[in-house]
Amino acid sequence: MSKFVMIIFGASGDLTKRKLMPALYALYKDNRLPEDFAVLGIGRTEYQDDTYRTYIRTEMERFVAPEEHADNRMADFCDRLHYLSLNPAEAADYGKLAARLQELTGEQEPDGMLYYLATPPSLYGVIPLHLKAAGLNRPHTRIIVEKPFGYDLDSARELNRIYASVFEEHQIYRIDHFLGKETAQNILAFRFANGIFEPLWNRNYIDYVEITAVENLGIEQRGGFYEGAGALRDMVQNHLIQLVALTAMEPPAVFNADNFRNEVVKVYESLSPLTEEDLNEHIVRGQYTASATKPGYREEKNVAPDSRTETYIAMKIGIDNWRWSGVPFYIRTGKQMPTKVTEIVVHFRETPHQMFRCEGGHCPRANKLILRLQPNEGIVLKFGMKVPGPGFDVKQVMMDFSYSDLGGLPTGDAYARLIEDCIQGDQTLFTRSDAVDASWRFFDPVLKFWQEHPDAPLYGYPVGTWGPLESEAMMREHGAEWTNPC
Ligand code: BG6
Repeated sequence: MSKFVMIIFGASGDLTKRKLMPALYALYKDNRLPEDFAVLGIGRTEYQDDTYRTYIRTEMERFVAPEEHADNRMADFCDRLHYLSLNPAEAADYGKLAARLQELTGEQEPDGMLYYLATPPSLYGVIPLHLKAAGLNRPHTRIIVEKPFGYDLDSARELNRIYASVFEEHQIYRIDHFLGKETAQNILAFRFANGIFEPLWNRNYIDYVEITAVENLGIEQRGGFYEGAGALRDMVQNHLIQLVALTAMEPPAVFNADNFRNEVVKVYESLSPLTEEDLNEHIVRGQYTASATKPGYREEKNVAPDSRTETYIAMKIGIDNWRWSGVPFYIRTGKQMPTKVTEIVVHFRETPHQMFRCEGGHCPRANKLILRLQPNEGIVLKFGMKVPGPGFDVKQVMMDFSYSDLGGLPTGDAYARLIEDCIQGDQTLFTRSDAVDASWRFFDPVLKFWQEHPDAPLYGYPVGTWGPLESEAMMREHGAEWTNPC
């Protein structure tokens, strides 16, 4: 009998095979899952336990390292997988779920039960209510729900209300896998485990901050989902704003889930509300268009030929507090860009006076700190140095730290980290209900503006380019330009 069961809704979907199963397997191999665990996959696709195991086994060979494929533990892991075909939208089907859970756990209450909602977002509000009606929301259960949590402010509030009517907040884990990334967590260590940066980390010394999370892939097979989401809901309202919070937050006095999440909420609550001018001029949205070899967004499967969904967004945002007043944060994300990279660039103020000549005539007078989250994970500080030899020319050089010098990042990925945290009851890296609300309060006006102004510009950008040129114009207002990593 299993003492711990993880029930995955959406078990035949993309996220399960790409991320969840490899993450669970990584935890299993390291003996980091509870003993006697079982996974029960739920989906509408018809599988039996054995056909589901075969399906996952085959898919795992695509998503875990080749040297793992023949490992006996892979077979043992797959033996722990079970499957129940049901329609998660049908209340009547939950009786089957209750019966199957009892089969897996026996008469005794298991030590833990974890629901993972990896379904289309339209089911996020339905499943908890059906679980409750079937008496499956018992005190020892936890639930992980994927992003986007809500479609806009109203729907996010409605979801929060539904979840609060079914579970206690300490049972609810709103996942944002960016927070599970080692390099995202390291922003906190970098800032708060060192004495030399924090005194400079404010409006007196920082001119502006750039946060970039771009990809060189399109929407892959996710047209159906993406059409209803767009870059704002898919990346900005959650991942990017979390990175803003990690960069801008105050140090919690003691590092624990409550204190950390309180500081995140304070950042969201300090975001300067977007004005009419911001909505018109400080948000640039784009959509990728065909290149010689790749289709444009509108040619993708399950995308309307006249779609207005944005695949790129760049925004200037401000934080109204003592530390950050007047320091713009420029954030951007996009599909089908020249490369995949996530990084934060902190631009310090220029020296007040330049007394040296500069190599090549171009004189960078400001230090730049680059926190590279992926790939080539590391940290780079750019500073001026005298060019050796006669005269007194100065040029910028880099002082850099790369995780590869430590032998690389641990293999466990963001999902493994977060699933393990959830099993252990640690909510630090999960989004609390008030944070969801505060974040949506900030972004909701953008969605409303687009709704009310269907002609608001949506610029095309060819696949493989850095997005609409208009996003450069937004930076030029500040006398700056985007740092495009190569
Ligand atoms: C997901 C988005 O949350 O994050 C995807 O839904 C995006 O559209 C992905 O591709 C990016 O995550 P990562 O970890 O690959 O940078």
